[in-house]
Amino acid sequence: MYGAYKALGHYPDYWYWILRGRPPRSPHLLKQKVVREYGEKFGLKTLVETGTYYGEMVAAMKGRFDRVYSIEFVPALAERARRKFAGDGQVQIFCGDSRVVMPEVLALLQGPALFWLDAGYYGWIGMETDKQRLSAEMEMILSHPYPHVVLLDDARCLTGEHGIPTVSEVKGYIEAKFPQRLVTVEFDIMRITLRD
Ligand SMILES: C[S@@+](CC[C@H](N)C(=O)[O-])C[C@H]1O[C@@H](n2cnc3c(N)ncnc32)[C@H](O)[C@@H]1O
Repeated sequence: MYGAYKALGHYPDYWYWILRGRPPRSPHLLKQKVVREYGEKFGLKTLVETGTYYGEMVAAMKGRFDRVYSIEFVPALAERARRKFAGDGQVQIFCGDSRVVMPEVLALLQGPALFWLDAGYYGWIGMETDKQRLSAEMEMILSHPYPHVVLLDDARCLTGEHGIPTVSEVKGYIEAKFPQRLVTVEFDIMRITLRD
């Protein structure tokens, strides 16, 4: 019975989200759909993820991108993911703080990439949150020579409280500093693309 339920993967979570009237916190299946669609729409062949966790996004996207780079802070999770994707030559797992590791990953890129920023920017399992980490990574990515596309998960957590900026502050900051960029939010995901 449990095996049959497990085989349904992320679907029960997705259906339950629809039944509840699509609340702000969106299910993983929807996140996968958005990542897949942005990759296709912008013709991006490389995915860079911050926050590997159990490697669910990596597993869902490894067949859809030529390269997948994922950065995980917790050594045990990074090691687990390395084992899980040991047979997937297109996947590379980095261990460390995404703010520190990001320059190393950016240096590997040979064209525009899709970024899935999902590394507990608003606090995670009791870790002290580096309040500058999100803006520091955004600056690095958006200043890089290639026109990368960025998706930031959990936009609802941009509350304006405890030193965390609001959605409109982040949008205003990015669009003022990088005028060719457009920032939108839908289904709890902030999307940073090039203006038409
Ligand atoms: C929400 S989970 C990521 C889920 C995953 N992206 C997915 O879609 O399947 C957040 C992950 O970010 C990691 N994390 C937290 N702070 C980090 C940091 N500074 N650098 C890299 N990873 C971090 C946490 O350990 C956790 O595994």
